[in-house]
Amino acid sequence: MGRKNTQSSRPVVRKAVIADVPAIQKLVNHFAEKRRMLSRPLAQIYESVRDYIVVEDEGAVVGSAALHVFWEDLAEIRALAVVESHQKRGLGRQLVRKCCSQARRMGIGRVFALTFEVEFFRKLGFSEIPKSELPHKIWSDCIRCPLFPDCDEVAVITSVGKQPHK
Ligand SMILES: CC(C)(COP(=O)(O)OP(=O)(O)OC[C@H]1O[C@@H](n2cnc3c(N)ncnc32)[C@H](O)[C@@H]1OP(=O)(O)O)[C@@H](O)C(=O)NCCC(=O)NCCS
Repeated sequence: MGRKNTQSSRPVVRKAVIADVPAIQKLVNHFAEKRRMLSRPLAQIYESVRDYIVVEDEGAVVGSAALHVFWEDLAEIRALAVVESHQKRGLGRQLVRKCCSQARRMGIGRVFALTFEVEFFRKLGFSEIPKSELPHKIWSDCIRCPLFPDCDEVAVITSVGKQPHK
């Protein structure tokens, strides 16, 4: 016997597909307008769509994150966002954990993010590091940002050799 459809759906974390790209951009740019994160042009999301995972709920994209490989032992979590209506339900944590396990599976030992949400990342086992300890390559994104050079985003990093907290 199948389940009845009357049960409320559960958000699902899955790899992004091409059709998700406009919704990812809308979500990211919504928070970029609030200066919480960097805006992303459509072309850039299409080019790196294989980096992206999304949270889908009732057919809508309600969360996103991307894992961008930087170097042999370093990847960045980018475009992490959960729509306000779905925040504080553990979806941000799921997205970060999924990115970290992807990195671990690829043999990448460390994952960093540039963020204003330091407390959120701290809860997931990340710690602050001076931006100067990250490869200079990160500035290629920064110089395209309207906040450059007066940005007070904080660099946080974790080792994914072991399971992130919780
Ligand atoms: C940051 C963000 C992704 C968190 O998503 P979320 O789904 O609300 O997070 P979760 O529910 O998984 O939270 C995990 C833990 O972090 C805590 N947390 C979430 N947001 C937090 C915040 N802003 N400050 C401190 N703690 C926070 C939660 O309370 C929870 O802690 P608990 O386990 O003790 O209950 C979301 O607030 C968001 O999209 N913000 C706007 C965009 C943004 O700033 N992105 C980050 C760019 S790097």
